[in-house]
Amino acid sequence: MAVSNDAEQQQLGFLIGSTNQVLHVADVLGNHRWSLLFSGLTALSVRPRVLLDFVKTRASPYLKRTFGRRAAPTQLRPTESATAVIISLVVLPMFRGGGIGELLVEEFLERAREARSSKAELVTTAGPSGAGDFYDKIGWDRVEEHSSKDGTHIHTYRHDLD
Ligand SMILES: CC(C)(COP(=O)(O)OP(=O)(O)OC[C@H]1O[C@@H](n2cnc3c(N)ncnc32)[C@H](O)[C@@H]1OP(=O)(O)O)[C@@H](O)C(=O)NCCC(=O)NCCS
Repeated sequence: MAVSNDAEQQQLGFLIGSTNQVLHVADVLGNHRWSLLFSGLTALSVRPRVLLDFVKTRASPYLKRTFGRRAAPTQLRPTESATAVIISLVVLPMFRGGGIGELLVEEFLERAREARSSKAELVTTAGPSGAGDFYDKIGWDRVEEHSSKDGTHIHTYRHDLD
């Protein structure tokens, strides 16, 4: 969380991420699988259009990944190094352009290095609705492009930490 350095400590922006995505997903699925399923179904039940979209595009892969035999791994393979992942980054609109986003990312990369992650990654939608230009500007590499199940064009960015 970025807060102002005066007495008010106003919240200016935040970054959510993990320094080891495989272990993070294992922890979420291992400890919160059923409460997440309940929250997800409750939220979808009051949004019929989103529910329909979800059933058409994502329900099957989500259920396989969460409950199937090919569920997410619970530990890294011996040869595999940890990947840190930025899940969400937001700076409040009135504070954008002042370096806060870059500071949050730098702090995250520092913590990922301390946790011995070998690289950091994130996905963002392509074009003006995404943050690709920001990550280009602060030195990340665009390493992959693909379309999501609902047709949104997605870019993957990477930053090596070795
Ligand atoms: C993307 C976001 C986090 C950037 O935060 P910010 O505090 O405005 O960024 P900074 O001020 O640290 O910018 C760092 C540099 O990137 C540039 N930059 C910031 N946003 C940019 C954009 N959308 N396009 C191009 N350059 C951008 C800045 O001009 C600055 O360059 P400079 O050092 O030459 O002046 C913020 O715009 C935001 O919250 N957007 C909405 C949510 C979002 O898209 N999150 C990312 C999803 S992964």
